Amino acid sequence: MSGRALITGGAGFIGSHLAALLLGLDWEVFALDDLSTGSEANVAHLVGNPHFHLTVESVLSPSVVSELVHKCDVVFHLAAAVGVRLIVEQPGHTLLTNVRGTETILEYASRFEKPVLIASSGSSKPRWQASRWRSTATGRRRAASAMSATSCARWTA
Ligand SMILES: NC(=O)c1ccc[n+]([C@@H]2O[C@H](COP(=O)([O-])OP(=O)(O)OC[C@H]3O[C@@H](n4cnc5c(N)ncnc54)[C@H](O)[C@@H]3O)[C@@H](O)[C@H]2O)c1
Repeated sequence: MSGRALITGGAGFIGSHLAALLLGLDWEVFALDDLSTGSEANVAHLVGNPHFHLTVESVLSPSVVSELVHKCDVVFHLAAAVGVRLIVEQPGHTLLTNVRGTETILEYASRFEKPVLIASSGSSKPRWQASRWRSTATGRRRAASAMSATSCARWTA
């Protein structure tokens, strides 16, 4: 199957490689990136491809997100504030980008009924304490909450 894919964070490390992969599989790729930590250099080899489109804008822009999600068949949401230094130095910016940005993507994906893949990592989760985990009926353990206070640093011992 091929179609139209929106990659937020498409000029980032993973996004640019995903874009190249999908183009090789005959997908049309729309990359949305504000170039805050990504770079046009990451997608310089794709820019001449008529099936690759780079929009330099933020996932926090509802009108841009709406238009792109509407025209695509699937969304890969990779745009995020990442990197320990950035997150520690700009916690407000980090929350805005990662929480509201994801909310915006999910809102329009839901409205236009498009599937979304969201990338995450262990770094995005709080440091768990034993009491924060609970067992489910199936015996598997899962998190009681996906967020914690910003005063609880994820990276300290
Ligand atoms: N690289 C890894 O090893 C790894 C591992 C696990 C999970 N992840 C997750 O995958 C995702 C992508 O990681 P990456 O390594 O490619 O990071 P990256 O920093 O290279 O890519 C993130 C991209 O998002 C863009 N961006 C940031 N804020 C934006 C905004 N408001 N609007 C539009 N674009 C914005 C940046 O400019 C950048 O190009 C992140 O969510 C990260 O947590 C990465």
